[in-house]
Amino acid sequence: MKHIFQQGTNPAKPTFLMLHGTGGNETDLLAIAAHIDPEASVLSVRGNVSENGMPRFFKRLSEGVFDMEDLKLRTEELHEFIGQAAAEHGFDRKNVIAVGYSNGANIAANLLFTYSDSLKGASLHHPMVPNREADLPDLTGIPVFIAAGTNDPICPAEESTDLEKLLKAAGAKVDLHWEDFGHQLTMPEVEAAKAWYDKL
Ligand code: MLT
Repeated sequence: MKHIFQQGTNPAKPTFLMLHGTGGNETDLLAIAAHIDPEASVLSVRGNVSENGMPRFFKRLSEGVFDMEDLKLRTEELHEFIGQAAAEHGFDRKNVIAVGYSNGANIAANLLFTYSDSLKGASLHHPMVPNREADLPDLTGIPVFIAAGTNDPICPAEESTDLEKLLKAAGAKVDLHWEDFGHQLTMPEVEAAKAWYDKL
């Protein structure tokens, strides 16, 4: 997958897996990674799907309606890619924290819904429940931060509260954070994500 890798200055720090929103690319979230922890490594990936020229991580049938077969295949592809990138760039595969926005948050959530060991933690900005039929793996102790907007037209409030419930039922340690904004990725929620990360 097309990506940027930035070697961190402290090998004990995690590698941030940065996953952009629809129409974004691998450069979008680099500043956020640097803000959360400038010493961490960064693997920032471009989604392999193109929707009228807009990169995404999986196909959708319409806004908020996912192509479930493609979501499954693309989640497996991303999971495998992280392993290949760890071997190629020499980072610790077991110390990867995803930071995803919108479509990127949805595929990060689906990594959690599919594998118990793909992510060490995740900061999900404006995610939805990726798959309501899924049988979640054991996620005991995995820290997950969810940033949601009270006026988000793309993610109604129950998408966030249902995701919180499902992840908690699988054992994850979930922090759900609300801002009185819409679907946009805001500076206050990035600060809240940093505060969550600093306590890990
Ligand atoms: C999605 O398709 O993942 C969600 O609708 C969010 C978006 O990318 O617009």
